[in-house]
Amino acid sequence: MTVQRTLSIVKPDAVAKNVIGKIYTRFEDAGLKIVAAQMRQLSQAEAEGFYEVHKDRPFFKDLVSFMISGPVMIQVLEGEDAILKNRELMGATDPKKAAPGTIRHDFAESIDANAVHGSDAPETAAREIAYFFPALAIHSR
Ligand code: PPS
Repeated sequence: MTVQRTLSIVKPDAVAKNVIGKIYTRFEDAGLKIVAAQMRQLSQAEAEGFYEVHKDRPFFKDLVSFMISGPVMIQVLEGEDAILKNRELMGATDPKKAAPGTIRHDFAESIDANAVHGSDAPETAAREIAYFFPALAIHSR
């Protein structure tokens, strides 16, 4: 097993629902450590840059609009197999298809407002972490 870092975002719908703490508890109970965090209101340019890989997808505009609709909580999670572990905790992209007990099943309403983001691979995680956090802002424990 490898100790990894992954980028996680609590999206505007979950921040508005006041469930940041409940979502953080899921991470911690699964053995993931929060080693950096910031609450931010993303600009349109920041959101477009973050989701650049999806810029030709039909949902790109809606995704960017949603991500700038309110503050988000952005964190780096660290732990063994953190990328996959976080994706398992999150559940399927569409909350209707997410397994009971996953974050999206329990806290998300729709595929447009699905509570959390998590990096999907080591290369993506490295890019996404660097997008929001300088190395000195990450406090490995
Ligand atoms: S893929 O094909 O695996 O890359 O796509 P997926 O991971 O399912 O989705 C990529 C991100 O786009 C969001 N998404 C949507 N937003 C709005 N509307 C629709 N229909 C939609 N479908 C997918 C999805 O939540 C992913 O965002 P992140 O922040 O990465 O979870």
